[in-house]
Amino acid sequence: MSTDPGIKAIADLIRVKRQQIQQANTAPKNPIEKANPLPALKITTIDREAELEQEALKKAQQEQARRVRVFANAGWSERVKMDLAIHDSKPFVWPGKALDRVLKVLVNSGIALIVGTTGTGKTLLAAVAAREMCLGHGRTCKYARLDDYVAHLRHRMYEKKEPQGAVLESEAKSYRVLVLDEFDKRRCTPEENKLVDAVFWHRHAQMSATVLIANEPEEQIAAMVDPSIIDRWAENKAVVGFAHASYRKGKP
Ligand SMILES: Nc1ncnc2c1ncn2[C@@H]1O[C@H](COP(=O)(O)OP(=O)(O)O)[C@@H](O)[C@H]1O
Ligand SMILES: [Mg+2]
Repeated sequence: MSTDPGIKAIADLIRVKRQQIQQANTAPKNPIEKANPLPALKITTIDREAELEQEALKKAQQEQARRVRVFANAGWSERVKMDLAIHDSKPFVWPGKALDRVLKVLVNSGIALIVGTTGTGKTLLAAVAAREMCLGHGRTCKYARLDDYVAHLRHRMYEKKEPQGAVLESEAKSYRVLVLDEFDKRRCTPEENKLVDAVFWHRHAQMSATVLIANEPEEQIAAMVDPSIIDRWAENKAVVGFAHASYRKGKP
């Protein structure tokens, strides 16, 4: 016959109280203890503990599901998602501990430049790093080609009539990791170039991480950004350059 949980809780309470009284009677009277009485014991029954454990587990599962949704809706193409699935079945390795180096600066809200010719795995590396930031560190993320991102900002500013400063601040706070692909395909007007520089300024100010992906060497990328801005990251900058052959050979 199973005991009613309510009766069991009361029985547990009585047992704990009895132990407390016994301890209080037998413990030597210490003047310091008297002046600083111990805080009252918080009594939880075994049933309640199991319940709390279940609640914590459920919350952790909900949080993980939320993070998976955040990553899935960050703007990745179907091709990148397929590449991620292939990577998961047998993880790829990038030369020079590239993934570790990118992750290290992203965790510290820095900037990572991933440069190299086409097919060397730049976009997938950025996706793997961003996913780790999302799922492992609970950071929000966004992926966009630079052109599309500039168009998105212009839409907010000129169609929706939001002030530039407010747009850039909210973007920097909304996406703690921003991956800008095809950075060297930048065909911006001088005004748009200033806007991109302002993006970096706000991301640095809001302590949000950025990944730039480009086919050109670092110097050329650096020349596309106001040097004083890139300099702000100083210690928190990683440059990953790939010189190996394309992995895409033989693939569609
Ligand atoms: N480290 C790696 N090892 C083997 N294959 C890789 C690796 N990184 C990427 N790939 C594969 O190479 C192809 C090109 O990767 P991608 O990230 O699109 O290159 P990039 O952005 O440099 O053009 C993809 O099909 C991807 O699955
Ligand atoms: Mg790419």
